[in-house]
Amino acid sequence: MKPGVRSTTADFAAMMRAAHLVMDREPKILCDTFALELSGFDSEDGLRRTIAEMGANLASKLPGASADGLMQATRAGIAVRSRFAEDRLRGAIARGVSQYVIMGAGLDSSAHRLPDSARDVRVFEVDFPATQQWKRARLADMKSAAHPVTYVPIDFEQDSLFARLRENGFDPGRPAFFSWLGVVWYLSDRAIFRTLREIAAAAGGSEVVFEYPVMAELVDPDDRPLVEMVKQVGALRGEPIGPGFDPADLVRKVEGLGFETVIDLSPDEINARYFSDRTDNLRMPGIGHLLSARVGSRWSDQFEHYDVSDFPIVRIDGASLPAGYSKKWVAEMEALLARGDPFAFIFLSSAEHPDHEDQKRQTQWLKAHKGPLVELCRGIVGIEPDKAKRILKRAQALVVTTAFGLRFSIAADRGEAERRVARLLAGEDVGDDDA
Ligand SMILES: C[S@@+](CC[C@H](N)C(=O)[O-])C[C@H]1O[C@@H](n2cnc3c(N)ncnc32)[C@H](O)[C@@H]1O
Repeated sequence: MKPGVRSTTADFAAMMRAAHLVMDREPKILCDTFALELSGFDSEDGLRRTIAEMGANLASKLPGASADGLMQATRAGIAVRSRFAEDRLRGAIARGVSQYVIMGAGLDSSAHRLPDSARDVRVFEVDFPATQQWKRARLADMKSAAHPVTYVPIDFEQDSLFARLRENGFDPGRPAFFSWLGVVWYLSDRAIFRTLREIAAAAGGSEVVFEYPVMAELVDPDDRPLVEMVKQVGALRGEPIGPGFDPADLVRKVEGLGFETVIDLSPDEINARYFSDRTDNLRMPGIGHLLSARVGSRWSDQFEHYDVSDFPIVRIDGASLPAGYSKKWVAEMEALLARGDPFAFIFLSSAEHPDHEDQKRQTQWLKAHKGPLVELCRGIVGIEPDKAKRILKRAQALVVTTAFGLRFSIAADRGEAERRVARLLAGEDVGDDDA
């Protein structure tokens, strides 16, 4: 698909969600109450007529296909992928995830149908700018579309998802839920796996849900006309689809990216989960799977005050610690000791007026844990550019060295501190005198 042109498969998808609500029986798989208006219809009759014409037109080109059958299967597949993603999203929000990223959002309206409990969830819609402009113009007239959304322009073929998100206020330190519906069909393997690799490295607890087409040989024979139809619709609209995946191979690759839990649902499993109680023939067609992949918690996720991204170098910026930090500090010190690997500290700055209670708690903890700390901590290097202050801090550091048996020295700048810490970790006994 061309980046400067808006997606027309996006309004086809919204039209199918609207048609599900208007044409299929209860119980509905998904209630997308925005879809009718978003896809450009002002009446249900208009939608019914368009669906009938579209179905007849497509079926006439596909031997053995029925117009109703094609349209019904398409509605089911499109409604259920959103339902699955929104079910997983609710689970993610319940476990504290507060960022929701809708990738290739098209006319997805889930941001505006979030429950009240998700009022504080930050929503990012990521798509081609042309598709976004067109959607925003449509939403502007819809007063009920209330949830604030940050629109992030992207071309998945060219851009890094996380670079684009960070530029737009996304917090990479907090977990996020990513949905990617009806998009991987149109992307190269390179773009798909580069994007998944970025999500696999996201904060622990993050999750991505996407649906994907299976390769032609694995498509249920009854559903071959449907695949042919999707191909024709895509090609006609300038959005050709890829060859599809072997699910076993794809799951292996997704697990290989480092995701902790991967759930892959086949059409039979999707039918058992979502379509078993129906009196009509609505069912998930045998052309695609739904997949959820979740990032496990990382050891580093528990640190707020210490920066352990470069472990065994552990950095802390004392001047920016908030009052009352010491409780969390104690937990972080214990996590450092529990890991059992040697490390060294860089104190990037120190607080001018530390809180008394915090200092007391820290000193008590240090006294109580002196033995294990000395065993693992190879040393501490502080930084003080001002010469007079440096002399004073070196004297204070000497007191710590004597009292706790921890090698504590003060460097004149960051570069010197980084070099000293590297030497400490290499086993050298470097201090202020021999730096
Ligand atoms: C079939 S629509 C699906 C829209 C929506 N997710 C839904 O389920 O209704 C495909 C979406 O992917 C977007 N898309 C396709 N290729 C893209 C690319 N290379 N970069 C960014 N977005 C892309 C299109 O703009 C469009 O919004």
